[in-house]
Amino acid sequence: MKILVTGGAGFIGSAFVRWTFQNRPDAEVCVVDALTYAGNLENLSEVAELPGFQFEHKDIRDADGMHDVFRCYQPEVVVHFAAESHVDRSIIDPASAVGTNLLGTAVLLEVSQRYTPRLFLYISSDEVYGSIEPPAVANEDSPLRASSPYSASKAGSDLLVLSYFKTFSLPVVVTRCSNNYGPFQFPEKLIPLMISRALEEKALPVYGDGLNERDWLYVDDHCRAIDAVIEKGRVGEIYNISGNCVIPNLEVVRKILQICGKPESLVTHVPDRPGHDRRYALTSAKITAQTGWQPEVEFETGLQLTIEWYRQNSEWVSHVLSGEYKQFYERNYVLRANR
Ligand code: NAD
Ligand code: TYD
Repeated sequence: MKILVTGGAGFIGSAFVRWTFQNRPDAEVCVVDALTYAGNLENLSEVAELPGFQFEHKDIRDADGMHDVFRCYQPEVVVHFAAESHVDRSIIDPASAVGTNLLGTAVLLEVSQRYTPRLFLYISSDEVYGSIEPPAVANEDSPLRASSPYSASKAGSDLLVLSYFKTFSLPVVVTRCSNNYGPFQFPEKLIPLMISRALEEKALPVYGDGLNERDWLYVDDHCRAIDAVIEKGRVGEIYNISGNCVIPNLEVVRKILQICGKPESLVTHVPDRPGHDRRYALTSAKITAQTGWQPEVEFETGLQLTIEWYRQNSEWVSHVLSGEYKQFYERNYVLRANR
């Protein structure tokens, strides 16, 4: 099967590419990635020499470039991960989130219409449902109540993708996963940021009271879910993908400190994120009923594997934390401190 993976040099995209070559030896994969601060070819070094692997250094907003890639590669399946994926960045620079997440997706849909893959799979997010009051969980029919420019750009793309099914019969599927964690995640998101800072005994910045809850999904479980949707998903449908593991941030941070053997005194409460969603919680009953998929990796196990990976890969961490990232980090916290 020829799969075109956008954003395949990022965290989940690269995990999906590695997973695909490990589990589908006959697969052919073409990665399209602009290599932003979040994209890194080291994430693909394991597969770079495989005969079925190809890489195109291109921006999904470049319509001519996308036409060239689709014309030459003729993908059967498109798995579209490429995005500006960080909520905090989207608060500082909403236009980037809209540009890649919404307009970039619009380019890919137009190009896909012309080259007719058998499936266009859009990787969306549980954040499109906004904050979910306990004890409720969001299902695929829950209203879209995005809170941040990031989640609004994802929700807009979901609607655009689904409109191409209704209006143009493009065979699309939208998946909405919960928060992923695992190796190779850029250390700006909660778990890798806290692990890398804990290992260096630096302060761990917890937003607000730390009681916001996220539903944690180990990235390999997510890759299996995507594979299950490619094999058994129904076009025109939306599938939630949950780790069935809703935990307050403070508890996550304390577990990280405990596994790393570092003191709780490293926890530092900092001003809250504007528009911070209190709780995400999903049901994945639909994907389980239609494909048999369920998450397999317990949070404790996944966290230990992840911490061990970050321990072993401190060079990767220092490499990806470039000057650009440091500037963002400083600016983010200066903005917070000034509020
Ligand atoms: P990431 O930030 O690690 O990777 C994004 C990748 O997209 C990078 O390789 C980057 O270079 C590439 N990219 C960005 N802009 C591009 C452009 N204009 N053209 C081409 N490539 C571009 O993101 P991730 O965490 O791997 O997330 C992948 C997808 O999953 C995203 O669509 C995100 O919205 C969604 N998602 C992620 C999570 C999570 O917990 N990480 C949760 C829900 C949904
Ligand atoms: P994050 O990893 O940015 O993912 P998302 O906002 O997409 O869910 O954040 C996860 C949770 O952790 C969220 O409630 C915000 C919180 N958080 C902190 O408390 N401190 C931090 O430094 C970061 C990055 C996140």
